[in-house]
Amino acid sequence: MKITIIGAGSIGGAIAKGLAKGNMFKASDITCTAQSQATLDKMKAANPDFVLSLNNIEAVKGADIIVIAVKPWRVEEIIDQIKGVLDYDKQVIVSVAAGITFDTLNSYLTKNTSYEDWVTPALFRIMPNTAIEVLSSMTFVSAHNATPEQSELIINIFNELGNAMLVEERLMGAGTALASSGIAFALRYIRAAIEGGVELGFYPKQAQEIVVHTVKGATDLLLENKSNPEMEIDKVTTPGGITIKGLNEMELSGFTSSVIRGLKASK
Ligand SMILES: NC(=O)c1ccc[n+]([C@@H]2O[C@H](COP(=O)([O-])OP(=O)(O)OC[C@H]3O[C@@H](n4cnc5c(N)ncnc54)[C@H](OP(=O)(O)O)[C@@H]3O)[C@@H](O)[C@H]2O)c1
Repeated sequence: MKITIIGAGSIGGAIAKGLAKGNMFKASDITCTAQSQATLDKMKAANPDFVLSLNNIEAVKGADIIVIAVKPWRVEEIIDQIKGVLDYDKQVIVSVAAGITFDTLNSYLTKNTSYEDWVTPALFRIMPNTAIEVLSSMTFVSAHNATPEQSELIINIFNELGNAMLVEERLMGAGTALASSGIAFALRYIRAAIEGGVELGFYPKQAQEIVVHTVKGATDLLLENKSNPEMEIDKVTTPGGITIKGLNEMELSGFTSSVIRGLKASK
C-alpha cells in the first residue's frame, strides 16, 4: 500500500514520520511533497527512505491514499493541479484542512465525465492534534462516499498515530475544539499548575516534572481503569480534607464553567 502526503509541513510531516515508525507503511511507501526543497531536505534527514517530490502530479500517481495537508486556502489549487490524474476507482482522498467541508471538497473534486456522469472519490476528513508528532494524537475521522472497509483502513492508519475515532461530519467542529484546540487547553492547565508549584516553593523545572507526571498519572488511571474522573476524584477527597478544599476553591473561581465556555468559544 502506498500513501502520498501533499504538504509535508507540521501535520503532514508528522503523519509521514509517524507512519514510517508503524507497521502499515515502510518509509519507501510514503511519498511527501512540499513547496520548497528545504522542507523536503528536512524530511530526508528524518528518514532517507521517504520518497520526496516537488511535483504533486507525479507524486499522486500510483498512490492508494492521498493526504492533502496544505493550509486550507491552498486546497482548491492543489486539487485543481492533481484532479486530472486522480483515479477515483482506486484512490482514497484524505483532507486534513480545518473547516473545509465535504461539500466544498466535492465541489473541487467532482469530475464531469459526461453530461450525467458526475464522479466523486471516497473522501475522508481527519482532524488530528499536534501530539501526532509523538504518536499520541486524538484524531477525528469523518467519511463520505466510502465503503466500511475504506473507513476501517483510514481508522487503522490513524490509530497507528495515537487514537482515532470515526464521527459524523457535523461533529468535526466539536472534535476540533475538544481535541485539536483541546491540547492547548490541557497545556494551559499544566502551565497554571507549574506556576502554582513555583509559588508553593518548587523550582520551575521541578514543578514542570511534577505536574507533567501528575497529569500523565491522571490520564493513565482513566485509560487503565476505564473509570469516570469523578470516581478517581472521590478516591482523593477525604471528607473535610485538603483536596476538596482546593477543588472547591477552584470551582469558586469558575474552573469547570470556564473550561466549558472556552470549548464552546473554540467550536
Ligand atoms: N497544525 C495543527 O495543529 C493542525 C491540526 C489539525 C489540522 N491542521 C490542518 O493541517 C493543514 C496543514 O497545517 P500545518 O500546520 O501542517 O501547515 P504547514 O506547517 O504550513 O504545512 C503546510 C505544508 O504545505 C506545503 N505546501 C504549500 N503549498 C504547496 C504546494 N503547492 N505543493 C505541495 N506542498 C505545498 C508547505 O511546503 P513548504 O514547507 O515547502 O512551504 C508546507 O510544508 C492545514 O489545512 C490545517 O488546517 C493543522
